[in-house]
Amino acid sequence: MSKAEAKKIIEKLRDEIRHHDRLYYIDNKPKISDHEYDRLMRQLIDLEKDHPDLVTPDSPTQRVGGEPVEGFPAVRHIVQMLSMDNTYSHDELKKFDKRVKKGLETEKVEYIVEPKYDGASISLLYEDGLFIKGATRGNGVQGDDASANLKTIRSIPLKMEIIKGKIPKRIEVRGEVYIDIKGFNQVNKEKEKADEEPFANPRNAAAGSLKLLDPKIAAMRHLNVFIYAIGACEGCDFKTHEEVLEFLKEAGFNVNPDHKKCATIDEVIQYCDQWEKKKDKLPYHIDGMVAKVNSLRAQRSLGATSKAPRWMIAYKFPAEQKETLLRDIIVQVGRTGTLTPVAIMDPVSVSGSTVSRATLHNFDEIERKDIRIGDHVIIEKSGEIIPQVIEAITSKRTGKEKRFKIPTHCPDCGSKVIRLPDEVAFRCDDVSCPTQLKQRVLHFVSRNAMDIEGMGDAVVDQLVDKRLIKDYGDIYSLKASQVVKLERLAEKSARNLIDGIEESKERELSRLIFGLGIRHVGIHAARILADKFGSIETIGTQKRGDLEDLHEIGPVMASSIEKFFSSQHNRTVLTKLKDAGCKMKGMAKKKAKGPLAGKTVVLTGSLTSLSRGETERLIAEHGGVPSSSVSKKTDFVVVGDSPGSKFDKAKKLGIKIINEEEFKKLLR
Ligand code: IVH
Repeated sequence: MSKAEAKKIIEKLRDEIRHHDRLYYIDNKPKISDHEYDRLMRQLIDLEKDHPDLVTPDSPTQRVGGEPVEGFPAVRHIVQMLSMDNTYSHDELKKFDKRVKKGLETEKVEYIVEPKYDGASISLLYEDGLFIKGATRGNGVQGDDASANLKTIRSIPLKMEIIKGKIPKRIEVRGEVYIDIKGFNQVNKEKEKADEEPFANPRNAAAGSLKLLDPKIAAMRHLNVFIYAIGACEGCDFKTHEEVLEFLKEAGFNVNPDHKKCATIDEVIQYCDQWEKKKDKLPYHIDGMVAKVNSLRAQRSLGATSKAPRWMIAYKFPAEQKETLLRDIIVQVGRTGTLTPVAIMDPVSVSGSTVSRATLHNFDEIERKDIRIGDHVIIEKSGEIIPQVIEAITSKRTGKEKRFKIPTHCPDCGSKVIRLPDEVAFRCDDVSCPTQLKQRVLHFVSRNAMDIEGMGDAVVDQLVDKRLIKDYGDIYSLKASQVVKLERLAEKSARNLIDGIEESKERELSRLIFGLGIRHVGIHAARILADKFGSIETIGTQKRGDLEDLHEIGPVMASSIEKFFSSQHNRTVLTKLKDAGCKMKGMAKKKAKGPLAGKTVVLTGSLTSLSRGETERLIAEHGGVPSSSVSKKTDFVVVGDSPGSKFDKAKKLGIKIINEEEFKKLLR
């Protein structure tokens, strides 16, 4: 076959595959079987293999199969991605309409109303019709490059359609990546099988999938996208949002057909109500509707606040409520001995996921709501994330329901349960309670604490159950001959574990303090204590008042620290750590060295590759001072996803704002 012939066939195959992608992923009307589709793809792959010089980035073969990426470089959006104001009632919608009319000095405003998807917003950049890159929203100014994962979504065209012979020179296309309910359930089933924490809701699943380093895994997540707006555009001249949607559709994007033009706010309300009733019939989850002023000129005239456009509003549906049967109330024991009641219910689907357990928070709550075992209950997902039991349906009681009795003894170790005078919680006060002990040990060996690799759930369970350790101090007297006998631990892993334990003795003081698991003392406070006092012994001799004098240590934490060191049991464990050779003293605080020497750095929002604890540790290790609040003295603010008010404050004070990538560059 000549090259010219091959080129012709390749282009024909690509067009055919694009056409079927569109039929399948956008129009939901597939015309060929999966088998036939695979055959077309196979043919194209083979031809491109024979003619590698004919491979172009917009070929359908370039979607999947890419190598894992190393990270997600920052992408600056050309036009900022703002947020959206919310309303929860018809009244608020009417008030919004009044504001709009007042702002535009008119009585006639037309709206386009569309579903509000519950996913992750993205921005796609096309130049001369070709997909260049796609990014997450991030902090609105810049997000993460998620091109590799986005390219696996087949409803995102790698090449836009030419409309009337024209194509914009450069265009940012905005939309929402979502996972449908079937895909969401499937991902969670797989997660459960792999013993991983399932996603709490479809939004987290979509956002989490975009953060996967391996696009092959993202490709298996059944992600889809709805496109609903344009950011920057060179060569666009639209008059209404309706025209924008029409253009996007013709250009090959997945535009939701369920949008409607409404001439009055009453029509808007009616359309919202209509969808509230039928939203469950959709294969994906929506949490409300969005009303947008149709005229782009009116949109420009209304403008935006620092957070959200004034011409657009979300109407959030009330949280979905479902009825189910409460079968039992079990009691869980936490790391610090707190007992938490948990409702066990007949599984029921609420807001897109199946729920069979819900925390009841504390025993007072059960009493206050008069919830009994055997009750029919109403549950809902607060913020669509955590299921809550709202109330018992008392009219359905048969008389067989049982009142829950607060346990007098710990369900795990049988010790007496106590309630401190100033606390809501009941707790098991036995420091050797195995459930508490397991969690304390897991905390002690965790990444931000002593970081002992190989000491996971299964190992800790066995060590505690076989009574090889009675507190975390005993970890250091474990012998290889004992460890090697543990189930599911090969000889090599056992050796690594012993090496890991030995190595952990060198961890710096702040990590050891954090690992002790003193109530209310997080990694940040642990660092303050280490820097200020320099040794465990000195911290142990401080009185509550001295501790309270420290910046960022409040009375609750101060009293908890004092209490920890006054316990004989804790003192014995500390002696074990000392005798084992753990570092009980910090380095005398030297003049800070490193790229962040002397700089105060604040983190807001969440970073993709680092936890809060790790970020703070890195700041400190590179000479900087991690701080939790922004002030004039702050040198940098590191901004991640969903930043809080610290971001706004930093902007106001004119403090240097950097993203994750820039932060990592600084450390290099
Ligand atoms: S328009 C100005 N239209 O909701 C930013 N956004 O809660 C809004 N969203 O960040 C862009 N459905 O991710 C728009 N039909 C829709 C939407 C939508 C869902 C998301 C978007 C935004 C978030 C705000």
